[in-house]
Amino acid sequence: MDDALMHAPLFSALDAEAATALRASMVESRVPRGDVIFAEGEPGDRMYVILDGKVKLGQTSVDGRESLLAVLGPGEVFGELSLFDPGPRTATATAVTDVVVIGLGHDNLRPWLAGRPEVAESLLQALAQRLRRTNETLADLVFSDVPGRVAKLLLELADKFGQPGPEGVLVHHDLTQEELAQLVGASRETVNKALADFTQRGWIVVDQREVILLDMERLARRAR
Ligand code: CMP
Repeated sequence: MDDALMHAPLFSALDAEAATALRASMVESRVPRGDVIFAEGEPGDRMYVILDGKVKLGQTSVDGRESLLAVLGPGEVFGELSLFDPGPRTATATAVTDVVVIGLGHDNLRPWLAGRPEVAESLLQALAQRLRRTNETLADLVFSDVPGRVAKLLLELADKFGQPGPEGVLVHHDLTQEELAQLVGASRETVNKALADFTQRGWIVVDQREVILLDMERLARRAR
């Protein structure tokens, strides 16, 4: 089975046989870059595991401004909230790159949760990690300045999507400057200024939809 899948919350607690059975009950779809997988407010009846590519989860304010809750990659799940708390989708899921996902209807997932407590436990763990991160983001919005939040975002993206290279950690995040700003919760101008400052200090090199982190230690200190 796919490596990303073996480590996904839904599968990681299962033995190979059960994991194969669960995988067989899931439907694979390919989503081209830019397409919406589901929209905020729609009724939700299925959750997804990402096999390949990146998915962003965003919200739109009444006056049309957009904010991003997270960008997820291979092995991560989304669409689970409307399973545990039946109601409309809390965010819009959009493919940032060409994406391959597998989906499982909530009704098909329920017998697994009842019959295999380890599946429920690993989904609960993923939810708890999400809440932890959300609390941290909330605290940063209150306590940190924009450059601090940008430094933290870069480190988080490196942790998720980074690859060590000769100069530093290459982070091919596939996001526009606008999307980076939506993740930080600040204007594009302020985020660009922070990126330009980090570049000038020699901590990072910024390119189209990617960044190389040259000095993780300084960034970590700035993120604190
Ligand atoms: P659901 O509400 O079904 O649809 C939107 C999905 O976005 C939601 O399930 C979660 O999977 C995901 N989501 C919502 N809030 C967050 C968050 N703060 N961090 C990461 N993912 C989230």
